[in-house]
Amino acid sequence: MSEDRPPQLGYRVGEHEVRHGLSLAPMAGNTNLAYRRLCRRFGAELTTTEMASSLALKYGDEKSLRLLERGEDESPVAAQIFGADPDVLRVAAGEIEKRGFHILDLNIGCPVPKITGCGGGSALLREPDLAARCIEAMIEGTSLPVTVKIRAGWSDDDKCAPAFAKKMEEAGARTVTVHVRTREQRYTGHADLDLIRAVKEAVSIPVIGNGDVTDVESAQRMAQTGVDGIAIGRGALGQPWVFTQIRAWLDGEEIPASPGVAERAALMLQLGRGVVELYGEYRGMRIMRRLATDFFRGCPGAPAMRQRSNKLETLNDLEVLADALASGERLEPVAD
Ligand SMILES: Cc1cc2nc3c(=O)[nH]c(=O)nc-3n(C[C@H](O)[C@H](O)[C@H](O)COP(=O)(O)O)c2cc1C
Repeated sequence: MSEDRPPQLGYRVGEHEVRHGLSLAPMAGNTNLAYRRLCRRFGAELTTTEMASSLALKYGDEKSLRLLERGEDESPVAAQIFGADPDVLRVAAGEIEKRGFHILDLNIGCPVPKITGCGGGSALLREPDLAARCIEAMIEGTSLPVTVKIRAGWSDDDKCAPAFAKKMEEAGARTVTVHVRTREQRYTGHADLDLIRAVKEAVSIPVIGNGDVTDVESAQRMAQTGVDGIAIGRGALGQPWVFTQIRAWLDGEEIPASPGVAERAALMLQLGRGVVELYGEYRGMRIMRRLATDFFRGCPGAPAMRQRSNKLETLNDLEVLADALASGERLEPVAD
């Protein structure tokens, strides 16, 4: 592929078209509805909830299911669930459909022991037959298209993604998103792009490449593997405009510059207001303690702003932070 001729990304999931193939990867603690809305404004075409427990869905544990909010303006939106019991997943799939989501995704990538210890997340990579039964059960439980998100494999010696993806396709999964790191790598080391090529050769369903895409250059490298779409996680945190930039490249248009600090500050504040609207000020500010830091990463005065953001209590505190970011004023650290 020559660099002056962008590739054609894009795919369909059931009736839903993801025209440029650009999605926001699910990230627990980050991709709440307000953040997903922000990314959609900047060109993310498919968004996914933070992962929710299939058991919580089966038993109607509304406290855990707060993660499953959906905006009427959000389409298409996938709900991601985890679990490893086909019977529970079947029921959970039906519950997701009742909540109005468009796509149902199974998490087979999470490396966290709390999840793998119960057989879910990336632990399913070592149980391909059970994983296939999980997908089949979810399909029995819903008329929504069922998709899957996997990792490269468990370890360097066991990069099973091509064969595993084939198995998921045979079980009925409509797309496969591959985070090209192993479970053992967690979030370290490099994403193995050659493995994406191998997955692409192994299956005929759309393959969405994921891992380390943070700008147009890294999107170009991912696109060269022949993927149908790109899912962006950490690269979209604090810089949702990465979608606009990659989209412009795919459309052969001039790539817009990244916004300056004033616009970043305004976006951070808009996000904060959206989060407060959804969750109230107390919980919203705790969520913003994480999300705000991404907006001033690398800016002058960032350490003091980080210290302040770790203590956010009110929307007014966030406004002070946004003013300082926009004006370049150095903030004094607040007392512990
Ligand atoms: C804080 C955090 C939370 C995550 N939560 C989820 C999750 O709930 N479900 C999931 O499938 N992946 C989750 N991931 C993995 C991301 O979706 C993605 O696969 C990974 O970060 C690699 O992509 P990136 O380099 O674009 O960030 C999470 C990653 C991070 C950093």
